[in-house]
Amino acid sequence: MYQSVNARETEMVYSPTHGPPPPYDSIDSLGKTVPKGSKWNPKNWTKVTILCVIAGAVVVIAAIIVGAVLGTKSSSYPDYSPLTYTLQDTYSGTGFFDNFDYFTGYDPTSGFVHYVDSSVADSQQYNLTYASSSSAILRVDTTDTNADTGRYSVRITSKKQYESGLFVFDILNSPYGCSTWSALWLSDPANWPANGEIDVVEAVNQATTGVQSTLHTTNNCKMNVKRKQTGDTLTKNCYNGTDSNAGCGVQGEPDTYGQALNQNGGGIYAMEWRSQGIRVWFFPRDDIPSDIPTDVSNTTAPDPSTWPTPLADFPNTDCDISSHFKNQSIIANIDLCGTWAGSTSVYSDQDQCPGTCSDFVATNNTAFETAYWEWASWRVYTAS
Ligand SMILES: *[C@@H]1O[C@H](CO)[C@@H](O)[C@H](O)[C@H]1NC(C)=O
Ligand SMILES: *[C@@H]1O[C@H](CO)[C@@H](O)[C@H](O)[C@H]1NC(C)=O
Ligand SMILES: *[C@@H]1O[C@H](CO)[C@@H](O)[C@H](O)[C@H]1NC(C)=O
Ligand SMILES: *[C@@H]1O[C@H](CO)[C@@H](O)[C@H](O)[C@H]1NC(C)=O
Ligand SMILES: *[C@@H]1O[C@H](CO)[C@@H](O)[C@H](O)[C@H]1NC(C)=O
Repeated sequence: MYQSVNARETEMVYSPTHGPPPPYDSIDSLGKTVPKGSKWNPKNWTKVTILCVIAGAVVVIAAIIVGAVLGTKSSSYPDYSPLTYTLQDTYSGTGFFDNFDYFTGYDPTSGFVHYVDSSVADSQQYNLTYASSSSAILRVDTTDTNADTGRYSVRITSKKQYESGLFVFDILNSPYGCSTWSALWLSDPANWPANGEIDVVEAVNQATTGVQSTLHTTNNCKMNVKRKQTGDTLTKNCYNGTDSNAGCGVQGEPDTYGQALNQNGGGIYAMEWRSQGIRVWFFPRDDIPSDIPTDVSNTTAPDPSTWPTPLADFPNTDCDISSHFKNQSIIANIDLCGTWAGSTSVYSDQDQCPGTCSDFVATNNTAFETAYWEWASWRVYTAS
């Protein structure tokens, strides 16, 4: 910076408006005369100057290339032309939970929770998973008044894995309340993050700020590209090694989750996963597209190409979706505290929850009466 100011002052000495013109005695490669003694005459350049000029040229060329690539990326967008879907699996009715393994053991995300097996969850005493002909419920224990090593809850993982598809989740009630960290997601936990993670619905504590939909991947999956979505972009790098593994998230409106969603009778979340990208739609109960049958016995497949703009759009522009996402099970759980809901900056500062997260979980059993999922059905369609 300081040098360039000096160079400009030197140049002004030769400027026609600042004194007589200098003697011209050389001609450059373009046929233009160059002032004798001028720094513009390459014959007068030192090796350092020449190196600087070359380096400058390299930087300019690199900038042009990077600019062109970024420019292409910022304007390109995948071709989400319609696929023909066929109903593959329906999760509904009294057998709903037969299609899942119950995760047990310590919580991988440091939650203050005991994930119980199906015999405890299904027991009359705890009744944490319960399916009827019309819905399936998954909830947190509300009976223990001294859960001082963590409260009972449930995490289920589908026995089946998927490689792509259209996933339609009909949600009647979403869990919320201080200390809760609830999610409806897809992952291959044994091969994380290599096979990716798709968080369709996720929220913490009172969840008044709306749903978050997020991808987590290995390196080279970014969302700083053109997107068509109604939600707000949070972080843009999906790589688990950036932003403390925040993933690339998109936030919905307040009525997409929690008490506001439940008061509206719930709604449908649909997630389409295909090589061109991953998109998530939210439809409130009174605004479900007519091509999504709510009658679970109706096998007609919907057509996302007729739907309005999705809440979240993760196009394949700067992320090879096919190589980053494989072998995904569908997972639903209600965690308590843990690295997101339980961090002081979120639990206390942002969400204004009382005391410490673990004290709340241990003692405030009745607070967990709002901590339950209720689903009418989950349906999975695959493209032929
Ligand atoms: C389990 O929960 C369901 C749904 O809330 C309820 O209808 C059922 O009566 C409960 N079962 C027992 C044994 O409490
Ligand atoms: C990201 O994933 C790698 C495994 O590929 C793991 O070693 C690392 O701890 C993860 N980082 C975070 C912040 O989760
Ligand atoms: C099944 O659902 C589709 C889409 O909502 C609808 O057009 C069709 O009439 C339904 N079929 C029956 C037999 O109800
Ligand atoms: C797919 O996921 C299942 C369940 O997590 C796992 O047992 C299996 O090893 C995975 N298969 C591949 C090929 O990664
Ligand atoms: C228990 O939970 C309820 C409902 O969330 C809340 O109003 C109350 O302040 C909590 N009590 C304590 C002692 O944390």
